[in-house]
Amino acid sequence: MSALAEGPDNRHVLEVTEPQRGHVLEEMRALLSGIQNILAALAKENMAAVAQHARPLGKNMAHKTEDHLKGVLPGEFMRLGMSVHEDFDRIATDAESIKDPKHTLRQLGNTMYKCVACHEAYQTRAVVQPVQKNGAPSPHVH
Ligand code: HEC
Repeated sequence: MSALAEGPDNRHVLEVTEPQRGHVLEEMRALLSGIQNILAALAKENMAAVAQHARPLGKNMAHKTEDHLKGVLPGEFMRLGMSVHEDFDRIATDAESIKDPKHTLRQLGNTMYKCVACHEAYQTRAVVQPVQKNGAPSPHVH
């Protein structure tokens, strides 16, 4: 696939407000740093720490972000995101029960395929709040 893009960014544009975009990006950075912690724990074969770092990336995290984004982002996007969170719950559970670093690595690799797939398909663009309730045009933004 595209290594370094030369042409225009043709990914599907999700129009969100600036605060909503902030919530998405914040969640994303938490996913990245969580994965970094998981990999560090895996290198030490510390499966309890793997579970401890994977669990906060599970569905609990999704519920927090979802409140801000319900009805804003397309269903397909939300489902892909949710399946990533379900994966991390599973990774945490399996790290505790199966305790096999290779198994966890395989799971993580499969999950990260979803990170890649979504990033290939979507980009966000922050837009101003839509027209106000009384029909007045939105205030000027400079
Ligand atoms: C359902 C879609 C989706 C999935 C799944 C997804 N992301 Fe993202 N990610 C996005 C979008 C959309 C952006 C914002 C891109 C933009 O700014 O246009 C983003 C941005 C990011 C950023 C940049 C954050 C910033 O502050 O600029 C990181 C890091 C990131 N994602 C990591 C991940 C990781 C790691 C995973 C997998 C565990 C993941 N994402 C899964 C949609 C997704």
